[in-house]
Amino acid sequence: MSFPKNFLWGVATSAGQIEGGAFEDGRTPSIWDTFAAKPGKTHNGGLPTVACNSYNRFFDRDLPNLIKLGVNSYRLSISWSRVLPNGVGQLNEKGMDYYKRVFEALNQNGITPNVTLYHWDLPQVLEDRGGWINREVIEWFGEYAYKMFSAFGDVVPMWSTVNEPIATYVGYAHGGFAPGYTNEAWGNQARHNILVAHGKGVEAFRAVSPKNAKIGVVIDVWKRHALTDSPEDIALMKDQDERNWKFYTDPILGGKYSDYILTQLEKEGTLMKMEPHDFELTSQPLDYFGLNVYNRVPVTVNQQAQMDFSQGGNFLNNRTEYYPKAVYDAIHLLHDLYDIKCPIYITENGTYFEGAEPVAEDGIIHDDDRIRYVAGFLEWLEKAIDEGFDVRGYYLWSLMDNFEWSAAYNFKFGISAMDFTTGSMTWKKSAYFYRDFIQNARGLS
Ligand code: NOJ
Repeated sequence: MSFPKNFLWGVATSAGQIEGGAFEDGRTPSIWDTFAAKPGKTHNGGLPTVACNSYNRFFDRDLPNLIKLGVNSYRLSISWSRVLPNGVGQLNEKGMDYYKRVFEALNQNGITPNVTLYHWDLPQVLEDRGGWINREVIEWFGEYAYKMFSAFGDVVPMWSTVNEPIATYVGYAHGGFAPGYTNEAWGNQARHNILVAHGKGVEAFRAVSPKNAKIGVVIDVWKRHALTDSPEDIALMKDQDERNWKFYTDPILGGKYSDYILTQLEKEGTLMKMEPHDFELTSQPLDYFGLNVYNRVPVTVNQQAQMDFSQGGNFLNNRTEYYPKAVYDAIHLLHDLYDIKCPIYITENGTYFEGAEPVAEDGIIHDDDRIRYVAGFLEWLEKAIDEGFDVRGYYLWSLMDNFEWSAAYNFKFGISAMDFTTGSMTWKKSAYFYRDFIQNARGLS
């Protein structure tokens, strides 16, 4: 077992997916409250209004379960509109008090809070002012970040600015996520602005300079693999890699967009407006890099190759490919492309069950596929660590079934099942597996 002794073992969640309490104690709606309320936007019209009700159940339910799991870190996010109901300006004391109590309770129990500022839930009031396509959002985010670092910098040792900025692109360009626009140029502007906002957040962090705290960002890497070596498949792979993850890693870790992406967007008439100093902001040194990794993505223009793959591949019961080497590949990739110097944390990894997960006779869900998936990823992660890569933590997504965005409550990512009517949480077999794995890795068993 070569996971370092002080390795962070965690589970991850986000405010918009677990908290509920959407209208409590002065919180105002986020773009997800608005979007989900529109017909046809989420599975069965599922809303995040109550979700897992963690706003009211953190102390009596979530925290005891985190302790029982034996994690030494918990990744969660702050709901921007709970702490700043107007997006900017006056802080909401009740919202601030909630987070303060949560962070302190985690620390008291030896669980390091790892806090994300922006996990997709822009205050609706800011969307009404143009949201992520209005450049002022960079200042709005900077103000929010500055306020959070000032208030919680001494109780939160790990921060990240934004989580998976690709979601912002999807929300403005493809419509499947909030706020639900389908305009490619807006999507590109929104994702450029969020990258610059990330930089503004790092700048705010350095200005506040909380002692013993670290700042990072969370990006998801879904490496494309060409199913044949035809020039068409190679070109498709390259194009999708550029658009789906290099768009984010390039300006953050490399200080610029690739010539390829700039040329393509120019040709497509969707190139975003950029300012000269933007890239100084996007590429400031980070204390760590948060890597979300779930899978690779096989691509081909060749129907036969596609069919052969679908018939011959190694799949989980949710029909996604079982390819745990994805984590190893992604770590190598960051090293090869950017010679990344800061430590890496795997800030998310996990898999889902679609629909009602069957409960076995012993009363629990035997999610053996999830166990296989997680065990496989951990094996490949260990291999990367053995090779000398500086990876310092792993967060399983997720502590419990929750509001999975447009899939609402149909995709279940939890290692515990959530009864959304009673709010009770029941461990699945994978939770026991993870608890034992952590104990063993931490030398506690
Ligand atoms: C990415 C996101 O960060 C998280 O919000 C989402 O639930 C998981 N991956 C699973 O899709």
